[in-house]
Amino acid sequence: MKLKKNFVAATMLAGATTVMSFMSAGAAQAQGALVMYCAVQEEWCRAMTSAFERETGIKVSMTRKSSGEIYAQVKAESANPRADIWWGGTGDPHMQAAEEGLTVDYTSPKNSELQPWALRQWEQAKKRTIGVYSGALGFGYNTELLKSKGIPEPKCWADILNVKLKDEVQMADPNSSGTAYTLLATIVQLMGEEKGFDYLKALHKNINQYTKSGAAPAKAMALGETTVGIAFMHDIVTMVVDKAPIKVVAPCEGTGYEIGSMSIIKGGKNQDNAKKFYDWALTPAAQKLGAEAKSYQVPSNKSTPVPPEAPKLEEIKLINFDFAKYGSSDERKRLLSKWDNEVKNLPK
Ligand code: F6P
Repeated sequence: MKLKKNFVAATMLAGATTVMSFMSAGAAQAQGALVMYCAVQEEWCRAMTSAFERETGIKVSMTRKSSGEIYAQVKAESANPRADIWWGGTGDPHMQAAEEGLTVDYTSPKNSELQPWALRQWEQAKKRTIGVYSGALGFGYNTELLKSKGIPEPKCWADILNVKLKDEVQMADPNSSGTAYTLLATIVQLMGEEKGFDYLKALHKNINQYTKSGAAPAKAMALGETTVGIAFMHDIVTMVVDKAPIKVVAPCEGTGYEIGSMSIIKGGKNQDNAKKFYDWALTPAAQKLGAEAKSYQVPSNKSTPVPPEAPKLEEIKLINFDFAKYGSSDERKRLLSKWDNEVKNLPK
């Protein structure tokens, strides 16, 4: 109950901040417009929007959605694109869009300041998408709920198949969510496709809900609505920072990770402003807005301070994630339809 109140208060505060930032943007000189599709947490999307407006006088119209939803929208609008820049979200749909010619190549003067993983993403996508942050996948559990159910602390992917966790695990739907697609690709790479799908079918028995957004299970854990939540570890850390009784787990078998990405949309009406945003979004000044909005990914500019709260990637057993393969159009479509057919609608 107390937790719920804290969340309501935090939401109201975020709303007030937005109103203030829109007022200051309105006061800025109009320098044209930019339409942005944004796939990180709402607070960070808003912080980026208002800081860029303040800095440039360019009016930003921002829509926040999950990674797979943005891909679907960009594709649906490709004959008459509405948006100019797609910022954030997992790299796989950015890679797919690059391959399908929905986004354009660009070389930013800021490239020389970036981490090798951010540039590898750019090279593999023929310069049509670039890494803006990185973060590892994992799960968390609500310590109070786990204790009340007398379940031992899960440390591994295998542990969340425990029958005592029936209807107690939450994850997103990989069609809409890049987080959940990262899980799908991670399990297939870790266990092999056949065993991996056996694992996902067994996990299905414990799933209480496939949410639209990848971070929703972290929030549901904080509210005591699910015992276990599969999400990016940084999204679970945000709940811990807000004092939720949650423990974050880097699964013992190893885990996958994301390269959160950014792309310029082909045929967008404000291409010059999209490039201005792109260059700015790669600067330390812009990237440090993430931690200020309680988003604890590892930033792609080498000079952006890594938030102390960010899970330490060098201490986590990471798989050698094949971003080119699992971001390719054919593989992504194939895996998603296999998951739809063999897992999602299985009776429990
Ligand atoms: O909440 C932030 C975040 O986890 C990003 O790190 C990630 O790229 C994005 O959300 C994925 O969101 P979704 O799973 O909803 O597509």
